[in-house]
Amino acid sequence: MEIYVKTGEIQQDKAELIVVNLFDGVTEPGGATGAVDRALGGRISRLIADGDFRGKARETALLYTDGAVPARRVLAVGLGKEEKFGLEAIRVAAATAAKRVRDLRVASFSTIVHGGGRGGIGLAEATQAVVEGTELALYEFKELKTEPEDDPKKVRDMTFVVFDERKRSEVEAAVEVGRKIVAGVHLARDLVNRPANYATPTILAQHAQEMADEFGMACRVLDEDGMAELGMGSLLGVAQGTDEPAKFIILEHNTGREDLDAMVLVGKGITFDSGGISIKGRDGMEKMKADMAGGAAVLGAMRAVAALDLPLQVVGLVPATENLPSGKAYKPGDVVRAMNGTTIEVISTDAEGRMILADALAYAARYQPQAVVDLATLTGAIVVALGQHATGLFSNDDDLAARLEAAGQKCFERLWRMPLFEEYGEQLKSHVADLKHAGGRPGGAVTAAYFLSKFAGDLPWAHLDIAGKAWTDEDRPYKPKWATGHGVRLLVQFLRDWVDSPPAA
Ligand code: BES
Ligand code: MN
Ligand code: ZN
Repeated sequence: MEIYVKTGEIQQDKAELIVVNLFDGVTEPGGATGAVDRALGGRISRLIADGDFRGKARETALLYTDGAVPARRVLAVGLGKEEKFGLEAIRVAAATAAKRVRDLRVASFSTIVHGGGRGGIGLAEATQAVVEGTELALYEFKELKTEPEDDPKKVRDMTFVVFDERKRSEVEAAVEVGRKIVAGVHLARDLVNRPANYATPTILAQHAQEMADEFGMACRVLDEDGMAELGMGSLLGVAQGTDEPAKFIILEHNTGREDLDAMVLVGKGITFDSGGISIKGRDGMEKMKADMAGGAAVLGAMRAVAALDLPLQVVGLVPATENLPSGKAYKPGDVVRAMNGTTIEVISTDAEGRMILADALAYAARYQPQAVVDLATLTGAIVVALGQHATGLFSNDDDLAARLEAAGQKCFERLWRMPLFEEYGEQLKSHVADLKHAGGRPGGAVTAAYFLSKFAGDLPWAHLDIAGKAWTDEDRPYKPKWATGHGVRLLVQFLRDWVDSPPAA
């Protein structure tokens, strides 16, 4: 979809449809909505007075203008209660409007920037939120459908109508930022929605390479021999059960720029998790194509980071393999040696994510980064603990944790910090190796994170367990059913905030 910006008054715009907004409970609309209302002879106010439209979140009202203004239709969208207003309300309003426009089969519409300047929200961030809400809501994954739709609906373009010419360039710049971030989210969604036979480690690596070529990043992909040379026995242990070659994907933006802070992003890239020898039950196993959602988020974030050309060194690492049972598969009781020399006793081959992350975290140390953040659909236990509305955050660094939490609030990919008390380590004592990789059911998400901490070593590190967030079984305002692309906006926000206010040296 195209997004344009122009200067003018929305009530004079000639679009097929114009979108205006209303806070819940307002009886006399002001601003641009007020101007449209007046041009329509008070029709919006009458809708409100008659109780047909209140301005609740996710509420819309459609009016046909019968020549009172140049646009044929006006769509009023609710912003919800003013007290609760924020960037998320803007995203939801934009998403609600966009979906209504699509359902009306209107291809082209104009809108104002909802809420810019309200309640301390800046124009640029409000614009970005409208772009996100709109484009993320209209996402569809159709590449494997061959039947043509009988009645396709497609929104072709949206135009921001900005009243003040002096603010136009600020809106234009924010549109560009929003679009680059959305493109990263959409990439992550596509990769997660794709079934495992369309998103093998090899295919992920090809994507990474193409993206690197397009955006001027460096990309290296280690094959299994390369991993073996580095001693990545933990990752290779998981990979030995499948015939699909494993890949260790390395994407670098601005590396070698010693003047810039270095950040490493690590994403779990299990392209299919059957559980291996400790095989999962049959019900719902198809969902385990999403077990590379952390890796997809890292690839999506790297795309956005490169497109935005953030002044940081950013490295994306995606260890990628399938986890399958076979005559060659790793087994419970096996001991493997990770890249940092630690020996690991395998307890359940279904705890494979931490095995591949162990080597990736050990690899991250070579960049001497200011921070390492890993994302993984790591445990069912985090879904039990937090459900669908929060990502589990584990960190050995309070400042890093606080930054991630703040970024999560801002982009509404919210995090909840979990403990890493050393007592949890008791559950990982092995009688044969340095560590067991699984510590039983109590605190399953915590012991998984605790295991990872042993490979992050002294680096400032955070682990995000996104198992509850990678996909959604229901449509949400700007998250159509299935892959959410969760983590991309969070990482980008975190990195942009780091650029704006780096830690005091
Ligand atoms: N990929 C799964 C975790 C998962 C579960 C992600 C549900 C998304 C939704 C992970 O590899 C796994 O199987 N974890 C095990 C660990 C256990 C064997 C220690 C789990 O959570 O049961
Ligand atoms: Mn598993
Ligand atoms: Zn897994």
